[in-house]
Amino acid sequence: MRYFARFLHLCAPNLLNMTKNIAVFASGSGSNAENIIRYFMDSETISVRLVISNRSKAFVLERAKILQVPSEVFLREEWESGGINVLAALKKYGIDFIVLAGFLVRVPDALLHIYSNRIINIHPSLLPKHGGKGMYGDHVHEAVVAAAEAETGITIHYVNEHYDEGEIIRQITCPVLPADTPEDVANKVHALEYEHYPRVIEEIVLRRGV
Ligand code: GAR
Repeated sequence: MRYFARFLHLCAPNLLNMTKNIAVFASGSGSNAENIIRYFMDSETISVRLVISNRSKAFVLERAKILQVPSEVFLREEWESGGINVLAALKKYGIDFIVLAGFLVRVPDALLHIYSNRIINIHPSLLPKHGGKGMYGDHVHEAVVAAAEAETGITIHYVNEHYDEGEIIRQITCPVLPADTPEDVANKVHALEYEHYPRVIEEIVLRRGV
């Protein structure tokens, strides 16, 4: 047994180390990514080990650098051809769980399979309303105002092969007032995201034990 334990870290590092490692995938500004990194900075159970983006100019990469979290960029061809190098990076950093935070690329099937029920996303509306391909960021808030919704909010859900259709984990609402602009709605929704997304991530990752 002692002989086995000496080599255990080579094949399953996290059986010895109880910390769960998260990778955050983001395509743009990365304010949620930064909020998540800061939330877990002093955690003894969860560590944000890697930021992955599909855009080399995404501001999230600057945020990661300042916060001293390693980052990697994989351009469109890599995602479209199955994500082999993404998987290699996830393995290299011992990633247990993937969190999407404004990530606008379809996650390849190989990742969905290997990280089954270990990839979650946040969407800035109450799905199934205002979701699907092309519905992201401000487009969503504009649609909410155009539809004269009385409320909107956030949806945190597991990721599957269809945009915004995975099993819903949590929805939190906020009111939309008749005079609200899309910018007002965006501010309310961002506030909900910052407050709730890290806590839900913590709950899910620890509950699963990965
Ligand atoms: C967030 O509001 C997130 O919910 C949304 O993109 C924004 C990213 O902002 N995600 C989607 O619309 C996914 N369909 P951030 O880069 O400042 O975190």
